Amino acid sequence: MTVEEMYASLKSMLADVVPDVELRYKAELAVQINQLKQEKNAVILGHNYMEPVLYHSVTDFKGDSLELSRRAAQTDKDIIVFCGVRFMAETAKILNPTKTVLLPANAGCSLAASITAKDVRDLKARFPGVPVVTYVNTYADVKAESDICCTSGNAVKVVESLGSQTVIFLPDEYLARNVARETGKHIIFPTLGAVAAVAGDAPADTELDYQMVGWRGRCEVHEKFTVADIRAVRQQFPDVRILAHPECSPEVIAASDFSGSTMAMIRYVENNTAPRFLLLTECAMGDNVAAANPDKNMLRLCSVRCPHMNQITMENTLHALQTNQIEIKVPEEIRLRAARAVERMITIG
Ligand code: 13P
Ligand code: SF4
Repeated sequence: MTVEEMYASLKSMLADVVPDVELRYKAELAVQINQLKQEKNAVILGHNYMEPVLYHSVTDFKGDSLELSRRAAQTDKDIIVFCGVRFMAETAKILNPTKTVLLPANAGCSLAASITAKDVRDLKARFPGVPVVTYVNTYADVKAESDICCTSGNAVKVVESLGSQTVIFLPDEYLARNVARETGKHIIFPTLGAVAAVAGDAPADTELDYQMVGWRGRCEVHEKFTVADIRAVRQQFPDVRILAHPECSPEVIAASDFSGSTMAMIRYVENNTAPRFLLLTECAMGDNVAAANPDKNMLRLCSVRCPHMNQITMENTLHALQTNQIEIKVPEEIRLRAARAVERMITIG
């Protein structure tokens, strides 16, 4: 595709959401990225939070964490460029270790940073024999301590698949509370101090009344949406359909019309005829859905952004392909244990 053709294609889709000067400049970058991608036999996976031009011009597959994990596992390309955050790129490496996995910027995640492998080992010591479910928004060494992973798209299914009275569910407090509500489980949140005591000689905690053990990790983006935001929007647009990511608080989920992974939210908008929609999630996704569904009216609440996802740009995606940077590596001993937990999740779907 020539630069002019790329510009025309982007303009037809994104004229309402991206300034023309940016479209022109990024059309050139997109052509360079696609050329290099072909030369290097690479695939570009793009999370639904990527900025609109990148999302619609250079990605071979787009999706939520679950969909992109599946794509990473299946690809036969030599290089996987992950336009997302580090834990996602690590998951790609865990599932497809012979490929070179590149992350265009060192993009983290507040949930992944909220828990360490030692925290999980301490919890396992305190609640012996209780299966550990970890959200994919964690680093490889935390996954390696887990029995099974889950994403926002399959968390309830994964918990139910265990057929266990009790589970440890880490690290997102709100996702855990939302799953507890859906599965009818009673959840507790042990304090760090109490967990640390296990390292000494405190007895294992077998008497507590719990069915789920959670952790107080939060997504710094989704925790900021409030019921007051929802009320204000509904007052102005009574016919709006509000969709919330399950990393939002249970109160926000209860006040919304639908809750699901980023992919589930996209499908909901595609299949619904409501006059307008608001997505309580990273704002770029509203632009991406608006561009793909020109007949739909998308409201945006853009005061809260994910600083990590927003580190990925067209410029550093091109640079990643030019320099093979930043290459994601996972020590084999950790990878093997983490792969068991991720593959077990993928089998459940
Ligand atoms: P999804 O798996 O729903 O795409 O969510 C990933 C994420 O990081 C949400 O903040
Ligand atoms: Fe992490 Fe939240 Fe950003 Fe998703 S939106 S990458 S959970 S900080």
